[in-house]
Amino acid sequence: MATSIPRWKTAITDALLRHKESVVIQLASVDPKHDIPTPHVRSHIFRAFLCASSMPSLPLIVTTTDIRTPKVTQITSNSHVELVWWIEGTQEQYRISGFASVIPHPAHPLYRHFLYNIDNAPKASGLTSLTREDFEWEEKRQRNIQSAKRAYES
Ligand SMILES: Cc1cc2nc3c(=O)[nH]c(=O)nc-3n(C[C@H](O)[C@H](O)[C@H](O)COP(=O)(O)O)c2cc1C
Repeated sequence: MATSIPRWKTAITDALLRHKESVVIQLASVDPKHDIPTPHVRSHIFRAFLCASSMPSLPLIVTTTDIRTPKVTQITSNSHVELVWWIEGTQEQYRISGFASVIPHPAHPLYRHFLYNIDNAPKASGLTSLTREDFEWEEKRQRNIQSAKRAYES
């Protein structure tokens, strides 16, 4: 099992150190409401990488959103997502496919969906590895909200 940090994460981290402004990613999800599943894409702010110390090969990408937005319904119906990250300073584009998970407030009805994802995620996944290390998901969620609020107010 690969346990080293993936090259794409190292490259993005290095690029962000030099180009702090490149935090906007484009996140695509699939809307299942139509006869033909329809892609939707939107800009998001990259907040952090999350990585279990036992599984540096499987970093998670953290962003924040309002639980009432359509993307949440899309992601909880179909967790396959893709993001594109254009870093102008290095003239590099990264296209990253994966599975997204919404982490709501524990009192929100969708929290059960998050617990289901944890229980059913592959053993070799960032979600499972972090949970196995007793990661404090709610504490991280609160911290992200606070930093998103600070950025919005500044
Ligand atoms: C530069 C930029 C950054 C954005 N960052 C976020 C973000 O971090 N989270 C978010 O929910 N929406 C963000 N938005 C708004 C989304 O692009 C989108 O319009 C909104 O979330 C509704 O998306 P949805 O209808 O697909 O759910 C951003 C928009 C721009 C232009």
